[in-house]
Amino acid sequence: MADFTSGFWNFYIIIPTVLGIVACFLLIRWLSTDIHPDQEGKEMDHVWDEDLVELNNPLPRWWLNMFYLTLFFGIGYLLLYPGLGTFKGLLGWTSIGQYQREVDVADAKFGPLFKKYAEMDIVAVAADPAARHMGERMFVSYCAQCHGSDARGARGFPNLRDNDWLYGGDPQTILQTILEGRNGVMPAWEAALGGETGVSDVAEYVFTLSGRKADEAAALRGKEKFDAMCVACHGADGKGNQMLGAPNLTDNVWLYGSSKKSVMETIARGRNGNMPPHRDFLGEEKAHLLAAYVYSLSTGQADEQE
Ligand code: HEC
Ligand code: HEC
Repeated sequence: MADFTSGFWNFYIIIPTVLGIVACFLLIRWLSTDIHPDQEGKEMDHVWDEDLVELNNPLPRWWLNMFYLTLFFGIGYLLLYPGLGTFKGLLGWTSIGQYQREVDVADAKFGPLFKKYAEMDIVAVAADPAARHMGERMFVSYCAQCHGSDARGARGFPNLRDNDWLYGGDPQTILQTILEGRNGVMPAWEAALGGETGVSDVAEYVFTLSGRKADEAAALRGKEKFDAMCVACHGADGKGNQMLGAPNLTDNVWLYGSSKKSVMETIARGRNGNMPPHRDFLGEEKAHLLAAYVYSLSTGQADEQE
């Protein structure tokens, strides 16, 4: 509530809330008392559907009492919990406090487990079915929105099950990816390649690297450009460079799709894949367990379990 810039907004909330409750109370009282006894049960002037008439009867007691109950509930709630402007409520409840209590309970329960696994080697953790299970749960919460709940990835988000790695699949490298994040930068080449034809030629050459059918003359022209502009990152043989996250172009595994259109778009405009760092968010112990889970995906251990 400290977000309010002036005290005005505090009263802007309190006054209509309190007046609203008082008005409801008065309305109910008025509706339940303002019937003259001699009028009770008499027909009113309202007729619908030819013969449906309204009688002048008080509202049922139980129904009115429910209104009073909701009013009392509302008043009680506003006294106990925050709701009236900056008034904190008698219980001192906050959503942050509740969250913190839940986190504390979870930490007390799982903390020793995390600690035990954190002290083990990642390969050993990956061999432990219970640890893999915890890792999978965390993966679904923290990683699935990008890599998919089955870890098979999507366009621009690498498949983590295929044992084909941009940055490397040994346990320490996976852990580093999770903790520090990754940023794959593929520059845009359209201008340097002299426009669309140049881009198309290089794309044809890239296809030959993975043994795909390609226009030979175009690929030959493309090779010249590739050798000049692309080998620095993708290597003379096109096998990539894990230090830079430059993909292997010979394996017919495509991060951004295998169509010519998509490959040309990559070359012409560049790409900028970004894996956010998770060190601050998850902490090292959780990252350790997640690294073991991801590692187990590529060794097939996780599948044996299913
Ligand atoms: C916001 C989306 C996003 C989230 C969340 C995310 N990742 Fe990633 N991750 C990526 C992208 C994009 C890349 C590829 C980076 C690149 O292209 O250079 C990647 C790369 C990776 C790699 C490297 C793969 C390789 O081939 O070397 C691993 C391992 C990985 N992520 C694991 C995880 C884990 C574990 C989590 C959960 C803690 C996670 N990621 C959460 C987007 C995400
Ligand atoms: C500065 C290093 C660098 C240079 C130079 C470079 N690339 Fe890349 N390339 C990358 C990186 C890094 C990625 C992955 C981008 C990502 O993770 O988002 C990539 C991705 C690609 C992809 C997508 C692969 C896939 O699996 O979808 C293709 C195709 C490609 N590069 C072709 C080329 C061609 C052709 C050239 C030369 C004209 C070139 N690259 C020059 C770093 C480079």
